[in-house]
Amino acid sequence: MLLDTHGRIIEYLRVSITDLCNLRCVYCRPPEGVALVSHNEILRYEEVLRIVRVAGELGIRKIRVTGGEPLVRRGVIDFIARLTALDGIEDVGLTTNGTRLPKLAAELKAAGLTRVNVSLDSLDRESFRRITGFDGLDDVLAGIEAALDAGLDPVKINVVLLAGMNERDVPAFARLTLDRPLEVRFIERMPFGAEWAVNPPNPFSALTALEMIREEVGELYQEERNHLDGPATMYRLDGARGRVGFIDPITGHFCGTCNRLRLTARGTLRPCLLSPSEIDLKTPLRQGADDEELARVFRIAVNAKPVGSAPRKSASTGEGMNFIGG
Ligand code: GTP
Ligand code: 5AD
Ligand code: SF4
Repeated sequence: MLLDTHGRIIEYLRVSITDLCNLRCVYCRPPEGVALVSHNEILRYEEVLRIVRVAGELGIRKIRVTGGEPLVRRGVIDFIARLTALDGIEDVGLTTNGTRLPKLAAELKAAGLTRVNVSLDSLDRESFRRITGFDGLDDVLAGIEAALDAGLDPVKINVVLLAGMNERDVPAFARLTLDRPLEVRFIERMPFGAEWAVNPPNPFSALTALEMIREEVGELYQEERNHLDGPATMYRLDGARGRVGFIDPITGHFCGTCNRLRLTARGTLRPCLLSPSEIDLKTPLRQGADDEELARVFRIAVNAKPVGSAPRKSASTGEGMNFIGG
C-alpha cells in the first residue's frame, strides 16, 4: 500500500501518454507555446506498462489514461488492452476531448476500458470553435453518444468554467442530465495556459455555476459521496437520470482527500497537479533500474505529495496541461 506522509492512501495513477492534441483549447497551452518534443522523450508503451505493473504491485488500483489527447497516439487501443490485463489494476478510465470517440468507443470498450470522461466546454458551435480552435462540436456530441451506446459507464462530461465564454452553456449542460445517464461536471479554471499568462480571466466559480442552474433549471439535491466521485461534489436535478457535479480547485479545499499521482508523457512523476515539482522516472528506467529501484522512486514521489497547493492566481504553473493531463 502507498501511504503518504499525511495519511492519504495513494491508489490512483493518471498516465499521460502524449503531449499532442488535435485541438487548441485556450486554457491548455503553456505560455511559451508548445515546444516540439522528440519522439524519444516520450515514454514508449512498453515503458508505461512496466511502470504501471510496478505501481500495481505497490497498491495502485485505478488508472486514468490522459494526454494531450490520448486517442491521437497510434496503437492506443492495443495499449489499453494490455493495461486492463495487468494484475492488480481494477479500473482503467480515459479522459479525452471526444473527437475520435465516434470511431473508437466500441473498440475501447472491447479493450476493457470501463469509463470515459469527455472534455466539452460549450454546446454552441461557434463558442466551441472559439474555445478549441476547431469546428468540432458535432464530432464530440457524436462521440458522447458513441460512448453511451458502447456501454462505457459512467460517461462524464468535463466543462471548464470560462468567464466570458461559456456562461450561457451552463444551464444547457445541466439539462443534458435530465434524460441521459451523464455526469456533467463544472470545473474551476486553474492557472495553466498561454492566455492566462497574458490576460488572467475573471474568476468563474463553481458556486456561481450552481446558482445559475438553481435559478434557470431547478433545485439541485446533493448526493452522498461515492468513491468514484474523485474531487467532485455531485448533485441531481429532480427526477434526472444523470448527475451534475462541481470541481472547485480554486475556491474549495479538496486536497485533504487527494489519492492520486500523475505520470507525465515525458516520464516524470508529478506528486501534485498544482505544484511544478516532478520526480524523474525515465532516466533510471532507461539506465536499467530493476523493479525495486522503480518502486523506490514511486515511494519518493508519494512522500513528496504536499498536503495541498494553493493555486497561483497570477501566473501559469510551469508546464502546460497537455503534458500533465489534468
Ligand atoms: P474520475 O474521478 O476518475 O472520474 O476522474 P477525475 O475527475 O480525476 O479526472 P478527469 O480527467 O476527468 O479530471 C477532471 C478535472 O478535475 C481535472 O482535469 C482537473 O481539472 C481536476 N482535478 C482532478 N484531480 C485533481 C487534483 O488532484 N487536484 C486538482 N487541483 N484538480 C484536480
Ligand atoms: N483548468 C481546469 N481544467 C483544465 N483542464 C485542462 N486545462 C485546465 C485548466 N487550466 C481539463 C480539461 C480536461 C481535463 C483533463 O482537464 O478540460 O477535461
Ligand atoms: Fe487538447 Fe485537452 Fe488541451 Fe483541449 S484541454 S487542447 S482537448 S489536451
